Amino acid sequence: NWKLTNYIDKTISEIRERVGDNKVILGLSGGVDSSVAAVLIHRAIGDQLTCIFVDTGLLRKDEGKKVMDNYGEHFHMNIKLVDASERFLSKLAGVDDPEAKRKIIGNEFIHVFDEESHKIEGAKFLAQGTIYPDVIESQSVNGPSAVIKSHHNVGGLPEEMDFELLEPLRELFKDEVRKVGEELGIPHHLVHRHPFPGPGLGIRILGAVDAEKVRILQEADDIFIEELYKNDLYEKVSQAFVVLLPVKSVGVMGDERTYEYTAVVRSANTIDFMTATWSRLPYEFLDTVSSRIINEVRGINRVAYDISSKPPATIEWE
Ligand code: XMP
Repeated sequence: NWKLTNYIDKTISEIRERVGDNKVILGLSGGVDSSVAAVLIHRAIGDQLTCIFVDTGLLRKDEGKKVMDNYGEHFHMNIKLVDASERFLSKLAGVDDPEAKRKIIGNEFIHVFDEESHKIEGAKFLAQGTIYPDVIESQSVNGPSAVIKSHHNVGGLPEEMDFELLEPLRELFKDEVRKVGEELGIPHHLVHRHPFPGPGLGIRILGAVDAEKVRILQEADDIFIEELYKNDLYEKVSQAFVVLLPVKSVGVMGDERTYEYTAVVRSANTIDFMTATWSRLPYEFLDTVSSRIINEVRGINRVAYDISSKPPATIEWE
């Protein structure tokens, strides 16, 4: 695709010219935008780029490992993985209000990122995967980079966070970002991932969050997503995930009575995420997902399917 390679070449030379010999840091979330931005910038300036990946402990199962494999190993990028899960979980202990949880996670993210970015000596630029719709809305909803961005929009970056912004995807729409990503050699499934909210599983575990609930939800969610791929349904829905309710109910397993948590399977179809309908997933498929979750995930004995549209419901549960 001539137009696409042209765009990539032009952007790469612009990045080289602007950055010179300086260092760039980028908050890599594993999402589409920050990943494409990272690979593009890496193509331009190689090891002058350092990515910071913050494991909040609220990510999907094995996300940190996957990011290191996909981008560290495969693209040979410098990625610093910061395991901050304990910090996030201890700050969240006992907090059940959704907005309070969001605030804690957002603040903690900024703290960790700020700390880590200062360990990278002489970094002059902060790169972000801001895309055109973010520029218009200015308040993007997806990805940790959005956390920095909205913070930045509200009060400016913290004083010490004195970076110049580098945003090579600013003019692109999502489908264009995906095309650029594929052209750069990022596998199809990675550039077609569903969006994942900055607060992550923190807002998909209803009520108070703890390590055990994170483990339970990660397992259940992983099964649902795996089955969507296996049955060629992943790209037919816009966003799919599992929610963990703090409600226990009675079940029976073998001849034992169980008393465990309820998981809700959620899948939405939408164009703009402002309105959405619930995905009409086949009953047989839902049956497989339900059986697998109940049989394989210790701690869940009941699965419900969310059949609410937006509005009046939202896509997330918190
Ligand atoms: P709702 O639940 O409002 O979600 O229908 C619409 C889209 O926004 C995402 N979302 C968030 N993303 N931080 C984010 O980065 C948040 O606090 C947040 N809340 C919702 C949600 O995943 C969906 O794509």
